[in-house]
Amino acid sequence: KLPTYSFKIVILGESAVGKTSLLLRFHKNQFSTDLESTIGASHVQKSINTTDCQMQLLIWDTAGQEQYHSLAPMYYRGARGALIAYDRTSYKSFERAKNWIKEIQKKGSPNVRIVLVGNKVDLEKQEVKSSEALNYAKENDMLFFETSAKTGEGVQEAFLALVKLLPKK
Ligand code: GTP
Repeated sequence: KLPTYSFKIVILGESAVGKTSLLLRFHKNQFSTDLESTIGASHVQKSINTTDCQMQLLIWDTAGQEQYHSLAPMYYRGARGALIAYDRTSYKSFERAKNWIKEIQKKGSPNVRIVLVGNKVDLEKQEVKSSEALNYAKENDMLFFETSAKTGEGVQEAFLALVKLLPKK
C-alpha cells in the first residue's frame, strides 16, 4: 500500500480573476460562465495518485472581494501550498497578487510553497507582461504559470507543479 499524505492548499487573488474557475477546471475539467462570486470560501477534496504515494488535497477557494479579506487567514492558516492568481488582462489584479504573496509569506505557514498564476490567457487583452510576472516570480523564488480556466491551458500543470513542491513528511 502506498503512503498517504494530506495537504491543505489555498487559492488567493482578487475578485473575478478566476479562482473558482481554475479550481473547477482542475477538479472536474469543466468551465462555466455563470459562477457566482464566492462568499466566504469553499473547498474541495481531491486525491492524486503518483507512482510512489497517494496525496489527499484539501483545496480552499477563497472569496476575492475585499469585504472578505479579514477571513483569509482562516483559510491560509496551515496551508502548505498556495496558488496566487491574477487576471492577465488587469494590472491591478497583479498588484493585488503581489500583496497576497507578501501577506502569506509573512503570516502563512513557514516555508509555504507558492505558485503564481496569470489567468485568462485566452483573451487578447494583456495588461501584465509575461516577462514582468516571470521576473517577479523568479526574484521571489516561486514558479509561474500562465493559464486559461476557459480552455484549460496550463491549469493542470500549475496545480501539479504546486503539489510536487509540497514536502512529503
Ligand atoms: P471571486 O469568487 O469573486 O473571488 O471570483 P473568482 O476569482 O473565483 O472568479 P470566477 O472563477 O468566479 O470567475 C470570474 C469571471 O471570469 C467569470 O465570469 C468566469 O467565467 C471568468 N473567467 C474565469 N477564468 C477565465 C478564463 O481563463 N478566461 C476567460 N475568458 N474568462 C474566465
